[in-house]
Amino acid sequence: MTVRAPASTPPLLEVQNITKRFPGVVANDRVNFTVRPGEVHALLGENGAGKTTLMHMLYGLQAPDGGTMAVGGRPARFRSPNDARAAGIGLVAQHFHLAGRHTVAENLALASSPFWRPTRQLQDRVGQIEATYGFELDLNARVNQLSPGQQQRIEIVKALLQGAQLLILDEPTSVLTPQEAERLFTVIDTMRQDGKGIIFISHKLDEVMRIADRITVLRGGAVAGTRNVQDTTTSELARLMVGRSIDTGRQARTETAGRVRLTVQDLKANRASGEPALRGVTFNIHAGEILGVAGVAGNGQAELTQVLTGLTEPTGGSVTLDGHNASGLTVRELFDRGVVHIPEDRNHMGVVGGMRITENLVMRRHRSRPFNRRGRLDWQAVDRHADDAIRDYQIAAPSKHAVTRELSGGNVQKVILARELSGKPGLVVASHPSYGLDVAATELTHDLLRQQRDEGASVLLVSEDLDELLKLADRILVLYQGEAVGVVDAETSDRETLGLMMAGRQVAQGASA
Ligand SMILES: Nc1ncnc2c1ncn2[C@@H]1O[C@H](COP(=O)(O)OP(=O)(O)OP(=O)(O)O)[C@@H](O)[C@H]1O
Ligand SMILES: [Mg+2]
Repeated sequence: MTVRAPASTPPLLEVQNITKRFPGVVANDRVNFTVRPGEVHALLGENGAGKTTLMHMLYGLQAPDGGTMAVGGRPARFRSPNDARAAGIGLVAQHFHLAGRHTVAENLALASSPFWRPTRQLQDRVGQIEATYGFELDLNARVNQLSPGQQQRIEIVKALLQGAQLLILDEPTSVLTPQEAERLFTVIDTMRQDGKGIIFISHKLDEVMRIADRITVLRGGAVAGTRNVQDTTTSELARLMVGRSIDTGRQARTETAGRVRLTVQDLKANRASGEPALRGVTFNIHAGEILGVAGVAGNGQAELTQVLTGLTEPTGGSVTLDGHNASGLTVRELFDRGVVHIPEDRNHMGVVGGMRITENLVMRRHRSRPFNRRGRLDWQAVDRHADDAIRDYQIAAPSKHAVTRELSGGNVQKVILARELSGKPGLVVASHPSYGLDVAATELTHDLLRQQRDEGASVLLVSEDLDELLKLADRILVLYQGEAVGVVDAETSDRETLGLMMAGRQVAQGASA
């Protein structure tokens, strides 16, 4: 049951006419927004709509250019995150701020005192939080050995230890498996019953409908509307976000697949820890085909993409690309043979944040034509390429010379897509390509992958999203504990069949190789 505060209590947070400008863009345009005690208020909006900027102002990371904020009815003006925390606001950012080599206990100690040393009192308080929210933390584990879901939980506990009454979660589910997301929702429900306020940022409309009480949609920095969840639908929300309706159905393919491009035979590989991750996987991909890879995270998908892109050496089996042995080649050698990679971990592997958009767009290709002439970078060619990419991939940027770090999360992703897909690749290895993308950008990404396929590329598409796989892929390979449970035809398969296979069940539906 949800405990509602009486109407007379002031809102936990009230934002009025908040405005924030960056050179060339109004990131927040007179935004009004309130959060009540015991309310989950979702914030929706396309990539670059201004969600993260608004949260940065609420958390004292950036100062507004105009407008006012009040917390619990009292005017608030934050000069730093310390001020925001003192007012009871907590932030779980999309990229965690944990000390990876330290233990969970040490990270929690540092969050609530100036010292690394966990005290008895801290352990008691963590114990209370664990009991209230029904989860357990391994206090002695080192943070860098934990999954993103576990690290996120530490960030939540940190915020609770600091006394957060209002918790901001910036795209919390984009790093979680569906199972981990369910567990997060249980935690959010408990907070709601405790009378805390939660701001929940997401691009996933179904998820927002499931967890939120109210929803505010930002478009181009301004509020396009605020709705109670029971008074709205996913299609209304999509329309508010983009100003038009969006079709998200499966599209019939135009071409049929060609010859076999990639053959993977009895492939074996280990995790970084040395345990086996792939235990003999066999499949192939044709030219002009999208092979989906389904599976619960941690069943070998990451290692498969790492081996195919040269980041990890296989421990057995073979990879054949266009008829030539490609096992154990380096990233560079594979890239030269037409293998491109849309990595899972965008911020560490995808782009260099401090470099300009123009430079990130030609990374790895700056030594070859048309960007290099007689050993010198042809800046005109680089600039032209950036203009094309910004137009074709709808990258929202103040200028092509902007530093990539200043782009919104989704627009950084578009820079990576533009770079990887623009050189006529033969094999596209895409891990969760639509993580963090809004509805329109997801559609654009899907169109781009289909276009690659129709132009004859082979695509390996790893996704947690079964609807995405069923919609885009031609065939779907299901991985379970490092083995292929089977390959099915996407056209005739469904969520239930895939779900059973993902749990390791052999299902009598074959697809020819
Ligand atoms: N530090 C900065 N300097 C310059 N411009 C910025 C900066 N931070 C954000 N912007 C711009 O402000 C706008 C809003 O960005 P913001 O990160 O708030 O979007 P978002 O809604 O969080 O998008 P996403 O869903 O892609 O994460 C974008 O045009 C972005 O390029
Ligand atoms: Mg953002």
